[in-house]
Amino acid sequence: MNGIVGSRVTRPDALDKVVGNTKYTGDLKYPGMLYGALLHPTYASALIKRIDVSKAKKIDGVHAVLTAKDIPGENNAGTAKPDQPALVEKRVRHMGDGIALVAAESPELARAALNAIEVEYEPIPGVYDPLEALKPDAPLVHEDGKYGNKGNVLVHRHYEKGDVDSSWKDCDVIVENVYRTPYQEHAFLEPECALAHLGDNGEMIVEASLQCPFYARQATARVLGWPLSKVRIVQAPVGGAFGGKEDVPSEICARAALLALKTGKPVLKVRNRRESLTTHTKRHPFIIKHKLGAKKDGRIVAVDVEAVSDQGAYASVGPYVLYRATVHAHGVYDIPNIRVDTKLVYTNNILTGAFRGFGQPQVAFAVESQIESLANKLGLDPMEVRRKNLAQKGSISHMGHVLKETDAYALKTTFEYAVEKSNWAIRKKEIEEFNKKSEKIKRGLGAATIMYGVSLGREAPDTATSIVQIAEDASVTVAHGGTEMGQGSMTVMSIIAAEELGVPLKHVHVLPTDTAFVQNSGPSVASRVTPVIGESVRLAARNARLALYELVASEFNSKPDELHPVIENGEGYVVSKDKKISFAECVRIAYRKGGCLTGLGHKKVHFEERSNQQYFAFSPATHIAEVEVDTETGKVKVLKITAVNDVGKALNPVGLEGQIQGGVLQGLGLATMEEVIFKEGKILNPDFRDYLIPTSKDMPNIEVHILECPEPEGPFGAKGIGEPSLIPTPAAIANAISHAIGMRVTEIPATAQRIFLMLNKK
Ligand code: MOS
Repeated sequence: MNGIVGSRVTRPDALDKVVGNTKYTGDLKYPGMLYGALLHPTYASALIKRIDVSKAKKIDGVHAVLTAKDIPGENNAGTAKPDQPALVEKRVRHMGDGIALVAAESPELARAALNAIEVEYEPIPGVYDPLEALKPDAPLVHEDGKYGNKGNVLVHRHYEKGDVDSSWKDCDVIVENVYRTPYQEHAFLEPECALAHLGDNGEMIVEASLQCPFYARQATARVLGWPLSKVRIVQAPVGGAFGGKEDVPSEICARAALLALKTGKPVLKVRNRRESLTTHTKRHPFIIKHKLGAKKDGRIVAVDVEAVSDQGAYASVGPYVLYRATVHAHGVYDIPNIRVDTKLVYTNNILTGAFRGFGQPQVAFAVESQIESLANKLGLDPMEVRRKNLAQKGSISHMGHVLKETDAYALKTTFEYAVEKSNWAIRKKEIEEFNKKSEKIKRGLGAATIMYGVSLGREAPDTATSIVQIAEDASVTVAHGGTEMGQGSMTVMSIIAAEELGVPLKHVHVLPTDTAFVQNSGPSVASRVTPVIGESVRLAARNARLALYELVASEFNSKPDELHPVIENGEGYVVSKDKKISFAECVRIAYRKGGCLTGLGHKKVHFEERSNQQYFAFSPATHIAEVEVDTETGKVKVLKITAVNDVGKALNPVGLEGQIQGGVLQGLGLATMEEVIFKEGKILNPDFRDYLIPTSKDMPNIEVHILECPEPEGPFGAKGIGEPSLIPTPAAIANAISHAIGMRVTEIPATAQRIFLMLNKK
């Protein structure tokens, strides 16, 4: 190793972002640029009887007013299913639908044009609750069977292992609860935006704030009716995403491109905050019925999980979210009898989609609450119950996944480290002592253990392709298909390339992602950017290095495979057993010989067929929360989170710490304060005055511990961290609150109001 991996690197984009110099999409200006705007419906469920755009078209400075009939290609901006129109033709299915598009010379004129469009609606019955949507007489959101849906059930998954029904009689104790989790808003600083314009060779170029340029390219090409080769998506700096810019930008890019095509001018489409909050996907709310049975000694005998989630009007990436929730529904335990039944249900509510954790924080909240509830009933310590049931090498899940040795080792190591570093036993005693003396303020300690399935899972192909070029001055460029969305991937990719090549970090430059130059490398989601896309960068760098060694081996009188890289005093060298030449000199020699110093790296994730792997690796974590509850008001204060996360290998420790702190705080918001309020599909709190997110004042003491149990598939052993930084936090906090108040929190967010009502129920 050359010492670059594991050093604390300052991110190259940090200063410009902090001082406000970074040009985001909304800051871009092109000559003759127009402003796009989208008309949204006034009902969540209605038929469009008539649209009249003639008045809007007549406004001076308005260049285009478009409806569904103006779409040259396929009217489909969907991701998992082709159920989502770019512009509604006849039937409105939720408040975030798009009815008509305008482009005008100023944002004010664009708004005036929207106001001048006449639409006549006929409201029709809608359904706004997933349980209501399951009833046989519920209004159907989509025609039965059209997208593989049975009635309003878009996806139904069912898995069984052992014999659950006959196991209950073998249990000494059974706990059964219904858990509810809320919608959550991503609250990225930069609202969604895209700027589309025609390039000199007639290609459509869209610069946008997004996570998944290849999704956006597919949707844009489809809506325009163009080949993918003529649509170029260029990633602009992204001001936060968290899953909210996974599939959402597809519709935005497609619409901006449509306006650019029709007007022949650059068109910028920026959502304002209210439009952003009322139109983009949210975290899936779940209702989870959870039954867990065990022996007196805490050994779990059976688990039965029944989960229903609200998909809203269109599939978004919901089916993949449900898959993850299904895989992880039983938690991290080895259980002989498991039944998991999950349903994803169409309603006329806002769409739900990707959000950091992707269905797993929800199921983790249920199962980890059940574990502590079980421990309480048995008079055992919850950590003891976890330890007794922790999955091991060879443990088989309800989906037939056989846990591999490295995953089992990482899980156990992370868990035991957390028990030790949090001083669990001592803190528990101290807190119980505190509570004996304190009437009004009660403290609580709670934990949650998870293992996050890294990347997309076995149901999707999982590949990435990158290009590393060494220029004649020995500087290096990296082109890859992942995106920098604030998480620090630009820094990590430069670290990986520099380490593999054996050159100082300052010589490596990472390009913004551009679909014109790299092959579809999948989405920047599922904590896969570092392990999967990063591994393709490492392979590209390795191939460039090997090409160089091939060209210069004769200078060393060696074979290429006898050469290796070293960095000394901030300079890169190539060394054989008896000779050392600087990397820069080697590059000059290679160029003189007319060689190719471009490396192509392709990573394909391997699934071991025999062990039925759902995910190729897991990132385990245990978080421990300490809270304080004011039992008069119900107000919760999170005092401390001890976060122990296994990352395989810490490529950039300072970036990792930031990711974990951010994930914990976002998890704290989900656990204690964030709530989207609806009435008949309409969001009643679409602003940051009424939708509360944690601020610096809510920041608890976060103690981050990073463990390194290497994963052979990842670059230098690294796994993903984006999501496992958040997943255990809400469950740990809910458990700590339950401990403090002596009652089980079954619904989050545990707002003061909710806790107050629990405490004053009698
Ligand atoms: Mo994500 S929630 O996989 O961007």
